[in-house]
Amino acid sequence: FNAGIGSVFTRDETHELDACVMDGITLKAGAVAGVSRLRNPVLAARLVMEASPHVLLMGEGAETFAFEHGMESVSPDLFSTEVRYQQLLDARTAGKTQLDHAAPLDERHKMGTVGAVAMDLTGNLAAATSTGGMTNKLPGRVGDSPLPGAGCYANNASVAVSCTGTGEVFMRTLAAYDISALMEYSQLSLQEACERVVMEKLPALGGS
Ligand code: GLY
Repeated sequence: FNAGIGSVFTRDETHELDACVMDGITLKAGAVAGVSRLRNPVLAARLVMEASPHVLLMGEGAETFAFEHGMESVSPDLFSTEVRYQQLLDARTAGKTQLDHAAPLDERHKMGTVGAVAMDLTGNLAAATSTGGMTNKLPGRVGDSPLPGAGCYANNASVAVSCTGTGEVFMRTLAAYDISALMEYSQLSLQEACERVVMEKLPALGGS
């Protein structure tokens, strides 16, 4: 999958991982962006939520914060795989920044961004998203995944959402929050809200 080991490569053959977690009871969220030395960025995101006054930490600051709280430092090349490197070469040849599940991976077995949503026995919701981003992205590029409301959102009043796709468009449409808002303010069902966002609003801006 495109998170942790198996993350895609940036243009410069590095890995920059993003992750977010959100709690639908409290609307608390935590996220990290552009980290390359944390094995499980989503655990660091949770740490930001639970042990800092902030929502999003980036790069070295995020890593230092995680190390200070006992997380292990790993070598960035831990995340590299041959398949992902081949994807980078292909994306370079095509001159494109590509989705993590673009060719040559099997269309029927897409190994993209990792998302999870959960509901407990009493109906509390939570969401988490973790990704290496898009193949051949510029170093420093941050996608939708670590941004609450864009690639990750949970609210007990509506829905828990984790997104995968062309991050820039999910950021511009606040896709995860938009699904929640359509349910909360327009009383759309979950399916109707997802269809509006995924089949209409994202494609209208070139998103997938
Ligand atoms: N949706 C993942 C990314 O664009 O980084």
